[in-house]
Amino acid sequence: MVLQEGIYWQSGAKPGRCYRLLYVNFQEGITTSEAKSALAEVWLMLTNLRQGIVQDLQPTKVDDPPASEMKVSSENLTCLLGFGSRLFDETVHVPPIVNADLRPPTLVSLPVRGFRSLPWATTPTVNRVSPDLAIQFIADTELAVNRAVVEIHKLILRGLPLRLEALFTGFQREDRRSWIDFHDGINTLRSPLRKLVIEVTEPGDAPWLIGGTFMTFLKIAVDLQVWRQLSRSQQELVVGRHKLTGCPILDDLPQIVGGQVQPQFISGCPFSGTIPNNPTDRFIDPAKASNRLVVASHIHRANFNRGDDDQASNNRVFRQGYEFLDAIPGGGISLGLNFVSFRKDVSAIREILSRPDWMGGVNFGGVTNPDLAIGEPPPVPLMSILAGGFFAIPPIEDPFPGISLFS
Ligand code: HEM
Repeated sequence: MVLQEGIYWQSGAKPGRCYRLLYVNFQEGITTSEAKSALAEVWLMLTNLRQGIVQDLQPTKVDDPPASEMKVSSENLTCLLGFGSRLFDETVHVPPIVNADLRPPTLVSLPVRGFRSLPWATTPTVNRVSPDLAIQFIADTELAVNRAVVEIHKLILRGLPLRLEALFTGFQREDRRSWIDFHDGINTLRSPLRKLVIEVTEPGDAPWLIGGTFMTFLKIAVDLQVWRQLSRSQQELVVGRHKLTGCPILDDLPQIVGGQVQPQFISGCPFSGTIPNNPTDRFIDPAKASNRLVVASHIHRANFNRGDDDQASNNRVFRQGYEFLDAIPGGGISLGLNFVSFRKDVSAIREILSRPDWMGGVNFGGVTNPDLAIGEPPPVPLMSILAGGFFAIPPIEDPFPGISLFS
């Protein structure tokens, strides 16, 4: 069993720059066999698209150019199919589309109240839809990911019993930073260990997922107004890294200068604004800290044990996020991170976001208020959820991933 494309875990694999996540529901009242045929048709179309074949550009008349001349560039398009808990819900799907007993028990929709310290946003742009299917497209160009979405729309116009529920867009940043200006994605998993963390290997409650994984998608709004009220030193303490270089903070008593706590950084960090190809481990993955301010930073709270990547208690997840910038209807902008991660179970993300020593105690970095001393950075209410879900990602199967659910 082989992991689907669209999870760039192999050493040297480079995800494309453009991201789309499409939420799709089956129409009400359809049978298992209708659902199965619809997905088979979608997946066949996408398989063709990845080879440059666009359905409506196929020759149909004798004097049309040959099919070989009508190919488009796929721009390294990858397509990934995931199943949400709604698909297994027999109160939603009457008759049932798949057997409810096949739902992995941890596959649920996001908590109604959000996570302990990561709440749902209160803006009108929140989208709490929890769909049957999530289809991820990644490619090198906007056209390639958009075309995949529109080709599905065309199939629906032709009568496939599906409904498009939501579309999320994201882009990669060449500067490898995020909207808070710090580098992101410095400490991802080492590639030899990625598959161990990602791939479901035990039959557990869902044998159909062996060779597959789970995806967590969180569209997280970042509140720049709140963030920009912190001084640069406070921001560096809250993240745990140097703002310009990404160098980790030294696990030592930060100095107080002018009533402000100033972090110090590990010595010998030879990097300037960009991350070199093979930085040393000291730079990527600093050891477990003891200073309370350093321990309270985002990188330590998100990776609290800082132990081996493949040990369950270390809650390591393979992150593959994409930034977003949306226009708010009526004016203004909304920005943040499409947090996308893969892991063989969903408990790791829940633990990171709910255990008090981890991110459960605060929203983003910082010592909790009762312990706060003068000049120390407070935890910041930086993040809120605009949309999201957990999805089961079965392995590659023919004619489409997850076919065994529909038998
Ligand atoms: C908009 C929201 C977020 C922003 C802007 C953000 C930003 C960052 C930054 C700047 C780093 C340091 C660079 C690095 O080591 O990769 C980082 C690391 C990390 N973040 Fe986040 N993050 C966000 C949300 C989250 C969430 C929700 C989680 C987990 C559920 C998370 C988990 C991690 C992990 C595991 C690391 C690596 C820690 C390490 O071992 O150094 N982040 N993040």
